[in-house]
Amino acid sequence: MKSIGILGAGHIGGAIAMRLGAKGIAATIANSRGPETLADLVAKAGPSITAGTREEAASKDIVFLAINWAKIEGALTGLPPWNGRIVIDTNNPMQPPPLPAYDIGGRASTAVVQAWAKGARVVKAFNHHYYVNLEKEPDAEGGRRVLFFAGDDAHAKADVAALIDQLGFHGIDMGDVERGSRTFQTPDGPLIAFDLVRFG
Ligand SMILES: NC(=O)c1ccc[n+]([C@@H]2O[C@H](COP(=O)([O-])OP(=O)(O)OC[C@H]3O[C@@H](n4cnc5c(N)ncnc54)[C@H](OP(=O)(O)O)[C@@H]3O)[C@@H](O)[C@H]2O)c1
Repeated sequence: MKSIGILGAGHIGGAIAMRLGAKGIAATIANSRGPETLADLVAKAGPSITAGTREEAASKDIVFLAINWAKIEGALTGLPPWNGRIVIDTNNPMQPPPLPAYDIGGRASTAVVQAWAKGARVVKAFNHHYYVNLEKEPDAEGGRRVLFFAGDDAHAKADVAALIDQLGFHGIDMGDVERGSRTFQTPDGPLIAFDLVRFG
């Protein structure tokens, strides 16, 4: 069983903690202000979710990254080497509306995250839903809420696909970072914000 960390405990990190907690999957979650500020969140998410430091959350086998775009690089600075561990990039290069998206020079946003998280195997996922939809039971209405994922490392994608399935979502592999991830990348990906459900 791979250990799981969540860097970022806001809308997306919190929703992911709720989903993991609902399945009794252990995870350590961290924000910038310290574990003591996360008591309410972990109480709500359930006993399998623990508050920790940034370093503790980032030390796990699979690390969800759920931080405001402008703060990601700083949040990753000074951490121990990734050594091929998996980072799930849940992020979008967005500022709070109505401000425009960040100009990332036409790159796939996950390629930018990959450059910041050197040595990690980055898989893009959990970024295309509004957080309110991620908080909901993914398999509550007779179907399974769809989650797209993309990445360049087949083994990392297989691990992320297994976790997506374990959480009750229907994962769809969109391919690599350069082409696949752009299909559900904010602001221009054609699949962004679609709340799709797979029936049957
Ligand atoms: N909101 C959505 O519906 C949505 C949907 C899809 C994707 N996204 C993407 O998901 C990412 C997170 O969005 P969000 O809405 O969850 O943002 P948010 O609610 O503002 O939460 C951001 C979290 O990042 C933490 N953080 C900031 N700097 C940190 C650091 N140095 N170390 C550890 N944690 C740090 C913050 O902790 P503190 O509060 O302690 O500073 C906070 O818990 C963004 O890239 C966003 O584009 C958001």
